[in-house]
Amino acid sequence: MSGESLSETYLQISPNILESFPKFRPPVDLYVFDMDTAQTKKYHKAEERLSKDRQAEVAGFAAESLLFLLREDYRIYASHLSKKLGLILTEDDFTPQEVAQIFFIAFRDRVEDFFGNPTEGPFKAMAKDVSILAEYVWADPGRVEYLTATIHKEYSLTTHSVNTMFVGLALFTLVTAGKFRQADLVDVALGLLLHDVGMIQVPRFVLDRAGYLVQRDRTSIENHVEAGESMMMRLRIQSQIILDCMRQHHERLDGSGYPNRRFKKDISLIGKVCAVADSFCAMVCERPFREPKDIPKAVVTLAKDTAKYEPVLTKLLAVLMIQGGKLRTEMTVVE
Ligand SMILES: [Fe+2]
Ligand SMILES: [Fe+2]
Repeated sequence: MSGESLSETYLQISPNILESFPKFRPPVDLYVFDMDTAQTKKYHKAEERLSKDRQAEVAGFAAESLLFLLREDYRIYASHLSKKLGLILTEDDFTPQEVAQIFFIAFRDRVEDFFGNPTEGPFKAMAKDVSILAEYVWADPGRVEYLTATIHKEYSLTTHSVNTMFVGLALFTLVTAGKFRQADLVDVALGLLLHDVGMIQVPRFVLDRAGYLVQRDRTSIENHVEAGESMMMRLRIQSQIILDCMRQHHERLDGSGYPNRRFKKDISLIGKVCAVADSFCAMVCERPFREPKDIPKAVVTLAKDTAKYEPVLTKLLAVLMIQGGKLRTEMTVVE
């Protein structure tokens, strides 16, 4: 089998990745490339017990770059890796698309844990993974292009949160032309991911009929901004960036937003970024009360609304979502 068709069917398992597998029961079928016959053969079945001797043998195969899994088992593999995100930073065998998907799965799970139990433990686990994402983007800001290509269309508060983080992070890296501190990037990502955390206190039935809101529902939804802020206070989070995402993502340049009817000059950059990313991600998702907009339509709707959304950012959104491929060459990469 030629190298090319080998990598079409199989993904290599490096020693690092192998070490992250449960020792006795690998989560995926293992395949070994046999040099003599130039064929790949199944060596071990997923979830079945590996004897000590076979473990040593498998480690040897991995060290010699002869150990593989089927690409079609990628989903199982990705969800395994999403629990050990740090590995992404040391592996170079993944395509950026694969990495983006692993990040997506990881953050959807972390956010779900945190929304179910918004206390310090799950917050720290989430923040740790966010710092891995920040490091990944910081090393090559052009990678945000692949993050924005993995946003999901089916709506839930968790997918909306991850979508908004990916799109917002991309807008932020573009608008700052790659000139940001790694530590700020962590807060930017966390703020975007948590912008709607207060929504966990809004009853589900109100969210589902949000197309036909009565005043009482509207107040209940609008309260998610303050509810989110109080949750951050309880967790003693003081980052201005995180708090601005929460407080300002529904403010609009012309003062028509909520909760404080701020005008353009009183909304921070990250507040404006979060507003554009949030609105875009809401538009392109399916909801029970309306059809999703397709991506170009959503971009144009926002770009036309210059009274409410920062035009510099909506233009960048168009570059990002419509001309995607060009992004890489236009990015300023931090050395
Ligand atoms: Fe919101
Ligand atoms: Fe939102």
